[in-house]
Amino acid sequence: MPKYRNSLNVDPDDKDPLISRRSFLALMGVGACILGAAQLVNVSLLGFLYPNAMKIPPSVFSIGRPEEVLAHDGKVFYPKQKVFIETNSGKVRIQTAVCTHLGCTVNMVPTGYACPCHGSTYDRYGRNTGGPAPRPLVYFHIFKGASGEIMVDKAKTTLDWNAAWFSPTS
Ligand code: FES
Repeated sequence: MPKYRNSLNVDPDDKDPLISRRSFLALMGVGACILGAAQLVNVSLLGFLYPNAMKIPPSVFSIGRPEEVLAHDGKVFYPKQKVFIETNSGKVRIQTAVCTHLGCTVNMVPTGYACPCHGSTYDRYGRNTGGPAPRPLVYFHIFKGASGEIMVDKAKTTLDWNAAWFSPTS
């Protein structure tokens, strides 16, 4: 006689003293369903606790050591942070490459910048000159980090392209 009986354990001739194989398999099925449901809840909960905003890069980042950054004069695109790094005579400034319309990445063109998504254009300073872009492209604050690297803070912006220059060696 089984020690425990329930509605799933109905075989009176069963020799198993605790639980029949049929009951065990039924309980395993129920357990798997509960685990599956819990997993779904966990995934949604984690998605809620860690939204996409947590995956974007931090506002402060390094662009490298001064000797590396200042090795060439000119403007280059830094895709990881979607910025343009411009160097000139030992100074550097950083400008966003994110279109102020809906956030596409702008391209450098001879007249300045052009957005491939809806046709916004900007002059070489980033002032919006055409298309739906409502604002100019901002410059970011630059400072020297504790380890000597050139750091950029995307949370601090300016539209003053002269004040945006930073001299890492002075
Ligand atoms: S996102 Fe650049 S023009 Fe629309």
